[in-house]
Amino acid sequence: MNAVDSEVSQAPEPRLTAIGERPRKITSDALEITHPLAEGRYQSPLRYPGAKSALAPIIGELIHAATVSSEVQRVDLFVEPFAGGASTTLRLVGAGIVERALLADADPLVAAFWRVAASRTAELIDRVSDEHARYISAGGVTALDRWDYWRAWDSKPGSSRAENDLELATKCMFLNRTTFSGILHGQAGPIGGRAQTSAYGIGCRFTLDPLVERLEYIGHLYDTGRIVDVWCSDWRETLGGVATHYKTLLPNRVVAYLDPPYLSKSGKLYRRSFDRTNKHAADLDWMSMFQHENLAEYLRHKMQFRWILSYDFDDRLLQDDALYASKCMRPDDDARALLDVKAWRIVRRSVILNYTASSKTGRGPAQELLLTTLPAGTVPSNDRLRVVD
Ligand SMILES: C[S@@+](CC[C@H](N)C(=O)[O-])C[C@H]1O[C@@H](n2cnc3c(N)ncnc32)[C@H](O)[C@@H]1O
Repeated sequence: MNAVDSEVSQAPEPRLTAIGERPRKITSDALEITHPLAEGRYQSPLRYPGAKSALAPIIGELIHAATVSSEVQRVDLFVEPFAGGASTTLRLVGAGIVERALLADADPLVAAFWRVAASRTAELIDRVSDEHARYISAGGVTALDRWDYWRAWDSKPGSSRAENDLELATKCMFLNRTTFSGILHGQAGPIGGRAQTSAYGIGCRFTLDPLVERLEYIGHLYDTGRIVDVWCSDWRETLGGVATHYKTLLPNRVVAYLDPPYLSKSGKLYRRSFDRTNKHAADLDWMSMFQHENLAEYLRHKMQFRWILSYDFDDRLLQDDALYASKCMRPDDDARALLDVKAWRIVRRSVILNYTASSKTGRGPAQELLLTTLPAGTVPSNDRLRVVD
């Protein structure tokens, strides 16, 4: 038994929390999207560190090129296991490039936000409007006190899941809009600092009307069956859960887009990260130390549907055998029984992006690596998508 096998055998029982009691089934055709934001530039209510809004059109280009091939005719389910601000999902669903999407994130704050925004939109809009009227509009010490309140707030034992989720979603929205770079993590401070002497104070990113419009868009996507469900789950539970709950779509009508935390320093940006120096990572389990390797192992041998992976460009990703040195996905026996292929090629492309917050470079351009098992012959290479050997 190798190191990875022994870790897997000691993995905790999967814990997957969906919007309802059970993962939502796809029962009928999705309805038409009529919300004007479907074509808008800014669709996510969250400002997310490392958000991939600039990458979304490129992911769309990859999927569009694949769906005109005979192998992948249509993407019925697009899965984002590291959803964060979900900018890619919102763009691709809105543009009609994929039919439906499933969002998942291991951070309970982020997952609760998407669950409530999707399925209890009006309640969240009321809560967020109230926070804005009472605290953000007042500004100064009142807004700062509220920021401290939400930073210290924790779920109350004995409160129902419904109550708890609504408060978590409100906390996520408040802190995301009022904290430096939208970082929900304990080290980042309020926009404008404690002194609030800058022209950009704590409320400068908390503009109510656009936020309400974006929340309404999320509710519309859920009501039309375009956002199928939101799971609070670790990536492994999400990928396994999709294979279990949406079996009839496998292998060619599901595509996963994975945007895991950065290889280095992600502990500064996310409450849930793969970073071994992040104290929150200890909440997951000791396996989190090897999550980049575990994810690579899973994608190279266990995936039962096609995937696209994005990472901040790092040579180690392409050189390390435990990561993505191999250009081939070789399904293990279980996956092969379903996929009916011996191997899928892993195609590599690099893209230059402008990040909102990059761990390496701050604001400004950064190089992103894209890896995919979409049919190799369909993956474009052009000025934006450069071939990587
Ligand atoms: C790079 S961000 C995703 C950003 C997203 N693509 C966007 O455009 O906003 C990574 C996300 O992964 C989540 N995450 C960290 N560890 C995870 C795990 N083990 N399983 C699932 N999600 C995890 C973090 O909470 C964070 O939201």
